[in-house]
Amino acid sequence: HTIYLKDYAPTPYRIVSADLDFRIREEATRVRAQLTIEPRPGTEPGTPLVLDGDELKLDSIAMDGAPMVLSAYTSDANGLTLVEPPPRRFVLETEVTLKPEANTRLMGLYRSGGTWCTQCEPEGFRRITYYLDRPDILAPFKVRMTAPRSLAPILLANGNLLEQGDAGEDMHYAVWEDPFPKPAYLFALVAGDLGSITDSFTTMSGREIALAIYCAHGKEDECHYAMDSLKRSMAWDERRFGREYDLDVFNIVAVSDFNFGAMENKGLNIFNDRLVFAKPETATDANYHGIERVIAHEYFHNWTGNRITCRDWFQLCLKEGLTVYRDQEFTSDERSRPVQRIHDVQNLRTNQFPEDGGPLAHPPRPDNYREINNFYTTTVYEKGAEVVRMLATLLGEAGFRKGMDLYFERHDGEATTIEAFLKVFEDANGVDLAQFGIWYTQAGTPQVDVTDSYDAASQTYTLTLAQKVDPTPGQAEKQPLLIPVRFGLIGPNGSPMGWTGVSGGEVRDDLILFDRASVTLTFTGIASRPVPSLFRGFSAPVKVTSNLGQEQLLFLARHDSDPFNRWDALQTASTALIADAARGKDWSGTDIDALRQALLDTLDDPGLDPAFKAQAIAIPAATVVARHIGHDVDPDAVAAARKRLMTAMVGPVAERLEAKYRALSSSEPYSPDAGQAGRRSLRNGLLGLLVAGSDRGAPLATAQYTGAANMTDRYAAMAIAAHYWTGDAQAILGDFRTIHAGDPLVFDKWLTASAQAPDDRVVERMRAILAAPDFPRTNPNRLRSLLGPFVMSNMVQFARKDGAGFRFITEAVAEIDRVNPQVASRILTGFRILPILEPARRDKGREALAALRDREGLSRNVADILDRLLAG
Ligand code: ARG
Ligand code: ZN
Repeated sequence: HTIYLKDYAPTPYRIVSADLDFRIREEATRVRAQLTIEPRPGTEPGTPLVLDGDELKLDSIAMDGAPMVLSAYTSDANGLTLVEPPPRRFVLETEVTLKPEANTRLMGLYRSGGTWCTQCEPEGFRRITYYLDRPDILAPFKVRMTAPRSLAPILLANGNLLEQGDAGEDMHYAVWEDPFPKPAYLFALVAGDLGSITDSFTTMSGREIALAIYCAHGKEDECHYAMDSLKRSMAWDERRFGREYDLDVFNIVAVSDFNFGAMENKGLNIFNDRLVFAKPETATDANYHGIERVIAHEYFHNWTGNRITCRDWFQLCLKEGLTVYRDQEFTSDERSRPVQRIHDVQNLRTNQFPEDGGPLAHPPRPDNYREINNFYTTTVYEKGAEVVRMLATLLGEAGFRKGMDLYFERHDGEATTIEAFLKVFEDANGVDLAQFGIWYTQAGTPQVDVTDSYDAASQTYTLTLAQKVDPTPGQAEKQPLLIPVRFGLIGPNGSPMGWTGVSGGEVRDDLILFDRASVTLTFTGIASRPVPSLFRGFSAPVKVTSNLGQEQLLFLARHDSDPFNRWDALQTASTALIADAARGKDWSGTDIDALRQALLDTLDDPGLDPAFKAQAIAIPAATVVARHIGHDVDPDAVAAARKRLMTAMVGPVAERLEAKYRALSSSEPYSPDAGQAGRRSLRNGLLGLLVAGSDRGAPLATAQYTGAANMTDRYAAMAIAAHYWTGDAQAILGDFRTIHAGDPLVFDKWLTASAQAPDDRVVERMRAILAAPDFPRTNPNRLRSLLGPFVMSNMVQFARKDGAGFRFITEAVAEIDRVNPQVASRILTGFRILPILEPARRDKGREALAALRDREGLSRNVADILDRLLAG
């Protein structure tokens, strides 16, 4: 059934404190919970107390120390109800037995590589004990854990360590206390035989925090970059937001089986080990970047998520959108701001726009759900971050900071809402954000149409902007949004152009406050026709169509003072050319020559950073072009058109590009820093162009694969060879597998590269990989590394005409669903591409989905996604 935001009501009872006792043993774990509970003021005496529970086995139950009679409670698959609790404060004591070993869903208490660990967000705590498992129930926790010393010498939980000692025979115990009231989703516990590295951080008020990262023995050396990222994150949050860490210890644990990236449990973050471990021989620059970002993200949650949490799960983007914004800002400050911005926008366009434009579209703050796990989406996270970024753009850095300061001051210790978040910015700045707030509640990517004209006689320039949002599931009608358009006008010589007056709408310095269905701005005192540079820095998450031709786009690529728009102009120009070719329209020779020249000029510009150049020369992904086309897409035609553009671009200058590629090779020892990483990404970008666009590329890829001194270059060569299916691709993949089969995180890279192959036998090979008896089919990283890239970016084979790609995925999803519904439903979301495909492929896709829906016993996770896909 569906849960609605409008039905939110506080619980009649609250939990005053939670005392937990875990007795961990090889065979089973016993959990005794002593919950101090009281009715809220106004609760009718005799109101039942309904506690959540999921797959729990109740061993005993007592009220204020006395066993409860059978008639006083009921328990079923969804929890435990006290029929008539006392109308005063009381202590409920329950005891349950858990089998962590059998927990393949990886929610609640489970075992990963022998280590006992937990994942509770959003609704995993109810798989550990009976509780009010919702984020508006905040309580201080005290946790006692006892475990065999030989199996689990390390015992960790949230907060500070109170005591530890011997518990007889092989057993020992530890007691942890977290003084900060928290919701159950932030609970965590780890027991295992782990290695660690330690460090310390001195906060701005001079407190010394003990830091540790725990990992499998032997992996300690691979944790140093994560530790360094943590210390930089702690310092940054003090500098940028005035936020200091609050407990005496901060622990991170890396585990191998984890449903997503990482989790911000109070004082005890648990990480997917792929976001902790790094060494140059096995990790790529992208891996280092990801580690830095996610370590920061989880740390920043301590204030935006933990000290201030969500009232209910509809408010998820209150913590996630804001924390993604904060981690993006951190990376921008630590590395290159324009390069980071391009990176984030590329991610938004490849992942969020497709979600927002398809059957799974929902607002950043949804108002109903069947399965909350299906709402940890790129819309909630990344579009949520864009909304916060627009707020910062509208209010300016100082105004935004004033609002954030008030947020921390006013809501510390609370579980709150998006409305309360917007209110602090209103109160701190004396503004009204009612219209702006629609960004949180309205789904769909706004489409902005731009037209302009110039009148030489009156020296006026007019700019017309029109906005619309297409209907999305459940939202037929759309309202105009307040869209901040950062902009500039550029004169014929490439320099910025001012104006003497502007009328027709609100313009504040370089910001248009575009708040109606359409607006026409008239600028006066304009001596010659300018080229408009709009949405500088991608100031709003919208799609823009304009009457700018290729010539003006390439002018922007050359002259815009905004690096983001320089990049974007090139992307727009090449997307248009590929889309034209895919739809059978021919190019003129001048289009290609001009675009090629613009790319070469970008490459030659000594003032540009290599990392930026790498992004500027990148040819838009096939999925981005497909979205641009928007309907009746034939993936084969898109792939062929993309290849054709690359050939036309590269062919005449292959020698020059090869020389640039060679000039970028380096023998300096590997460092993951942004400068070196940027040079590697440019070199690998050139390699991709050469492989796709000329026959010089393939041997270079093979040579780079063979001679690479680090995993970044090695992996790039393999991925490019696989993606363009060079003559050596199969040999390279075979070699990589033989060498790296033993390291699971490197094996994942092989799975991902293998899934990118465009040849007709890839589905067959993937079936064989999955069916191999030693394939670790319960590990989310393995499954996602193989199936994720296939559904999300191998459009040619996933959306094959004969439907074999679709059927392979639905059959795999059916199997995975029995083991881990969250992993299964995530893979299934790849089918959101169906509506833009040509009819024959779309039908094959729907057939495969319908066959899946006919199966018995699907999880709620998969059923929810399936129903939404089929309704769309
Ligand atoms: N809160 C975690 C993070 O953003 C992720 C939790 C994901 N949970 C889920 N059910 N998908 O950092
Ligand atoms: Zn998060």
